[in-house]
Amino acid sequence: MRKKLLLGNWKMNKLASEAKEFALASVPFAALAKKNNIEIGVAPTYLSLATVKEHASKDMIVAAQNVHFMDHGAYTGEVSIPMLKEFGIDWVIIGHSERRAYDNETNEKCHEKMKALFENNMVPVYCVGETLAEFDAGKTKEVVGKQVKEGLKDFTAEQVARLVVAYEPVWSIGTGKNASSEIAQDICSYIRSILKEMFGGVAEEIRILYGGSVKPVNVKEYLSCPDVDGALVGGASLKIESFEELLTNIL
Ligand code: 13P
Repeated sequence: MRKKLLLGNWKMNKLASEAKEFALASVPFAALAKKNNIEIGVAPTYLSLATVKEHASKDMIVAAQNVHFMDHGAYTGEVSIPMLKEFGIDWVIIGHSERRAYDNETNEKCHEKMKALFENNMVPVYCVGETLAEFDAGKTKEVVGKQVKEGLKDFTAEQVARLVVAYEPVWSIGTGKNASSEIAQDICSYIRSILKEMFGGVAEEIRILYGGSVKPVNVKEYLSCPDVDGALVGGASLKIESFEELLTNIL
């Protein structure tokens, strides 16, 4: 049975002081989630990771939004896996469409980063999803299939048992134009079928999230789909009241 997962991606939002306030206020919700066998977490900016890790419940997942694949070296502006591990951070979002679009994050780069994460027993949240033009051209499965196959090539079933995949259609992110739950189910089930081809039975254990304009009002509909195991939430994860509602609406 796959545990439901609600993960907030804060993107480039919140000062460290605001992140701390959220972390402190989230403590009761982490307990509520645990009691109901749901995992919750947030992905703050690098600068807020330490404070959120320190002040949130131990049951709250704290994820980074990116990482470099090298341990150290001349890579100005980058942050490495050992640097995250020193703060107890072992979840990392990889290949978010904003990084693919603005930072040239390719499937190959995502692969390198996930390889390094698996070698360090960490958990990648691998984001895939098509643009509006690709969706309109009926190319969703082709694009998403390629992202999954190239990003995860050569990994073992044992490695990917830790993986989380997030399907986020680019056209639904921050637009209020969320994909219907039928589309979310269809693509998440397609992703699972590829994972099964690549890795066998472990595909049944891998959690696949939907992301893109998830709000308290629609979160339950997505999570009721058999192959949607949770949500990756941007805007609606920023305010503690809305984050609480996302959780209470799926209990
Ligand atoms: P929104 O929930 O704001 O559409 O963002 C989704 C997202 O990109 C999460 O990673």
